[in-house]
Amino acid sequence: MATKKRILFTGGSGKAGRHVVPYLLDRGHRVVNVDLKPLDHPGVDNLIADITDSGQMFNVMTSYANFDELEPGNGVPAFDAVVHFAAVPRILIHPDNETFRVNTIGTYNVIEAAVKLGIRKIVIASSETTYGICFSDGQTDPHSLPLEEDYDVDPMDSYGLSKVLNEKTARTFQRRSGFDIYALRIGNVVEPHEYAELFPTYFANPDMRRRNAFCYIDARDLGQIVDLCLAKDGLGFQVFNAGNDTNGMNIPNAALIERFFPGVPVTRELGENEALFSNRKIREMLGFKEEHDWRKYVKG
Ligand SMILES: NC(=O)c1ccc[n+]([C@@H]2O[C@H](COP(=O)([O-])OP(=O)(O)OC[C@H]3O[C@@H](n4cnc5c(N)ncnc54)[C@H](O)[C@@H]3O)[C@@H](O)[C@H]2O)c1
Repeated sequence: MATKKRILFTGGSGKAGRHVVPYLLDRGHRVVNVDLKPLDHPGVDNLIADITDSGQMFNVMTSYANFDELEPGNGVPAFDAVVHFAAVPRILIHPDNETFRVNTIGTYNVIEAAVKLGIRKIVIASSETTYGICFSDGQTDPHSLPLEEDYDVDPMDSYGLSKVLNEKTARTFQRRSGFDIYALRIGNVVEPHEYAELFPTYFANPDMRRRNAFCYIDARDLGQIVDLCLAKDGLGFQVFNAGNDTNGMNIPNAALIERFFPGVPVTRELGENEALFSNRKIREMLGFKEEHDWRKYVKG
């Protein structure tokens, strides 16, 4: 059993966090959720705070999790890790400059506070959108397939740009501190109820999924990935794609590439349904084993 950790989690009330936080609790960790609104789930401690306010980030990271921590009389316990998911999660919710401001300044504040307070493990949410296909103007081709972490990321939108910059922020703080900071390029998050709700429509209209390179990450499998990041020390700065093993589509790669990505160089041999948004690195470096293949929940 891995060590139980005291974790500060930002954005735990959102679509991804409300599955990842319970996963971490089930693994025995203590989780303090820092968000603009609380997560109503047994065992979670909530602090309402704004990531764009640096003082609040230093403050929550030096806070008791809840009243029980007053009892021993030894002062405030230290956090072992920070997981940072809070963000504006896409374009076209707020004006572009606001998306950029919240995501970049928020991430700077969270990482700076964690590093300066000596919290040696930080995991941040980056995004598949860094690859530049998702929110592009018009239909663009990737430079090559599969999408892997050494790709020259080049989005053309404020959200994707904010995530590219956040990876740079993480790398900068990692160089100075030597701590572990891992950025997860999260694929399109799918909650358990969404398989039945969404996948039949995707299968009937596969072009809807081209901008996501047909990828998906089960929200619970994302929990496993975060937990593996918390357990694996010593990797310094890392970027990991966080996706499932196969495409979220019922068309094999040969036909999928011919139809949707003709002429795009394919840099290595691919399995019949192997995810074009590759999760090879998390499988090989972190030992990720997916538990929630879409085929368990919906008929292809
Ligand atoms: N959902 C996806 O498919 C997807 C894909 C790739 C990356 N991501 C990234 O994963 C993370 C989680 O995404 P999500 O889908 O759960 O988003 P979400 O919008 O559902 O959740 C984000 C949470 O952050 C909180 N938040 C926003 N601004 C805040 C602020 N200023 N201070 C404190 N909290 C704030 C919100 O209240 C919300 O609970 C984000 O960083 C997002 O960019 C999501």
